[in-house]
This record gives sequence, structure tokens and C-alpha cells, in this order.
Amino acid sequence: MRQKNIVLVGFMGSGKSTVARQLAKLTGRKVISTDVLIVEQTGQAIRQIFEEKGEAYFRQLEKNVVAQAAAQEGVIIDCGGGVVLDPGNWAHLKKTGLVIYLSATPEFILEQIKGKKNRPLLNVANPLKAIKELLDQRQVLYAQADFTIASSDVAGIQDMCTRIWEFMQEKDI
Ligand code: S3P
Repeated sequence: MRQKNIVLVGFMGSGKSTVARQLAKLTGRKVISTDVLIVEQTGQAIRQIFEEKGEAYFRQLEKNVVAQAAAQEGVIIDCGGGVVLDPGNWAHLKKTGLVIYLSATPEFILEQIKGKKNRPLLNVANPLKAIKELLDQRQVLYAQADFTIASSDVAGIQDMCTRIWEFMQEKDI
């Protein structure tokens, strides 16, 4: 039988990449990051793609790499925060994986992304406002995940990984 993928979704700065790495150590599974695939396949940084080609172009690239990642078996997929915007992405990811939403407050997110310039959507005068607006729009989409972990409910990344690990065992994944 096909081994399910573990799919991490959540807003920028919610800790997906760190959790993915820790979870990989715990489970021995390989990590695939949609952003990393885009950078590898285009030879361009995410920020550069947004600046030169725009968000719609980036979303098309993202759609392609999501399909590639979802076609893998038994891997951990670290999704860019906007992967949830496309219903087709959900169809691919849910077909072969279990989707876990890392939920975080706007304040937590701001703290994580502070001083980093690699999130084009948050490179604005008032990033907290942008975070709140985008989170408002996307909350309903993230809610389609199979399992949610709120950063405010756990002691830290290690605790998040333990919860996911327990959930995987409960679901026999
Ligand atoms: C985006 C999230 C980013 C990256 C791009 C767009 C988004 O990934 O894909 O900047 O729309 O939320 P991370 O969530 O890994 O930062």
C-alpha cells in the first residue's frame, strides 16, 4: 500500500520548515519544500520571481511543483503559505497525503519574519496589518486541513513534532 505524505500548511513564519526538518529526523522521511523546488527549477529566488514576473506567474510555478511533490510517496511536504489558495493544489495534496495546519497568531508570525526580506507579500510598510488581512482571507482555506496545531497550544517546535508524530500513529500513517 502507498505510504501517505505528511503535508505541512500554514502562514509564512508559522514554523513549517523547522517542523519539517525536525519531523524528518524523527521519522526518517525526506522533506520536499515547494519553495525550494521552485528556486531549484527556475534558478531564481522567490522574491526575484515576484518582482520580475508577478504573483500569478509564481502561483503557476507553485501549482506545478505541488503536483510533483504530491506524486511522491511517504515524504514530508513543506508548502509555501499560499499553496492553499488553489483548489487544485488541495486535490493533489489530499489525495496522497495527510494535511496538517500549523496555526499561529499574527504577533507570533511577525516575530518570526521580522528583519527578513525574503517574503515579498510582507515587504510592506505595515507588515502586521498585511499579516492580519491575509490571515483573515486564508483562515477558511487552512481550515480544510485534516489536523490543526496552534503554536499557542504547544511549548515549542519539539512539542509540535511530538503531537504530529502521535497523530500519525493514531491514524496509522
Ligand atoms: C507565500 C509564502 C512563502 C512563499 C511566497 C508566498 C504566501 O512561503 O511561497 O513568498 O503566499 O504565503 P513560506 O510560507 O514558506 O514563507
